[in-house]
Amino acid sequence: MKKVLITGAAGFLGSHLCDRFIKEGYKVIGMDNFITGDKKNIAHLSNNPNFDFIDHDVSEYVKFDGELDYILHFASPASPIDYLKIPIQTLKVGSLGTHNLLGLAKAKRARMLIASTSEVYGDPLVHPQTEDYYGNVNTIGPRGVYDEAKRFQESITMAYHRFHGVETRIVRIFNTYGPRMRLNDGRVIPAFMGQALRGEDLTIFGDGSQTRSFCYVDDQVEGIYRLLLSDYVEPVNIGNPHEISIKDFAEEIIKLTGTTQKVIYQDLPVNDPMQRQPDITLAKKLLGWEPKVDRAEGMKITYDYFKSLTEEELYKSEHKDFSGFINK
Ligand SMILES: NC(=O)c1ccc[n+]([C@@H]2O[C@H](COP(=O)([O-])OP(=O)(O)OC[C@H]3O[C@@H](n4cnc5c(N)ncnc54)[C@H](O)[C@@H]3O)[C@@H](O)[C@H]2O)c1
Repeated sequence: MKKVLITGAAGFLGSHLCDRFIKEGYKVIGMDNFITGDKKNIAHLSNNPNFDFIDHDVSEYVKFDGELDYILHFASPASPIDYLKIPIQTLKVGSLGTHNLLGLAKAKRARMLIASTSEVYGDPLVHPQTEDYYGNVNTIGPRGVYDEAKRFQESITMAYHRFHGVETRIVRIFNTYGPRMRLNDGRVIPAFMGQALRGEDLTIFGDGSQTRSFCYVDDQVEGIYRLLLSDYVEPVNIGNPHEISIKDFAEEIIKLTGTTQKVIYQDLPVNDPMQRQPDITLAKKLLGWEPKVDRAEGMKITYDYFKSLTEEELYKSEHKDFSGFINK
């Protein structure tokens, strides 16, 4: 039985990856310190004999006894509202955390896949973004903590590959959505759906002409799975190229939820990218992968998930309590 260590296992993407690898017959070891994750996301795996869990901050030395075939490094705050509140931890998990895990991969002769992001392209001057675009990132802007941590993560991963011969894979993930996202993590889909469910107006930042493209989580996981098993070392974009303006997207959400509230406009945050669209030519060619779930279907599943939350979860105003992590 192949063994895979998944960091960030209690998060949105990490927990779906745990499910997928268990389904494929792997022994899964999840690792997380719950800084942005939730025990609820992996509660259904607690009695599964093929799932073990280690509560650990991967920015500290990672000790693991026994063999490992694969490491998937998904631990990192991922939404702007999180990494703006815990900037140092974000930089640490992308740099020190990645270094620790690459060391583990080297020692175990495991293949390691890192979760990079479309944010490495910053506010892109090339559209759609191909993997050979170097990006347009403001190193000292508020989002720099995430973007630069991820850029460093890619660099150290390639260095371990070139210098130590570690087998590595790099996925550049574009906006992904689905069940287990946090309702109040500041990302547009949970934000709109939460507002609709609470009977509040939908907030658009800027004039709504900025575009986004949304990939359903099952498609994302399929792309990651295929990339891990491929022999391609350089970064690969995985995302959904179907672009939509935030204004049009708000209209879709109004239709889906049947809310009678209106749309209101607020100032655009600093360095918020105006356009985001993956070029997935490489993923199609290398992995035979492209997204299969259309937006209407994926949004309905996601909205059904948010509808199933308790009143308390729906009305919780503090999005996450970071107080226990502040000096770490
Ligand atoms: N969701 C997306 O659309 C998206 C897009 C691009 C990249 N990514 C990347 O995918 C990964 C997962 O994102 P997500 O959306 O699931 O976020 P998430 O916040 O739901 O999950 C991240 C998980 O990592 C854990 N974590 C953070 N720091 C840790 C540390 N030092 N030690 C141990 N665990 C730690 C958190 O507790 C959480 O469970 C991240 O690396 C993120 O950068 C996600």
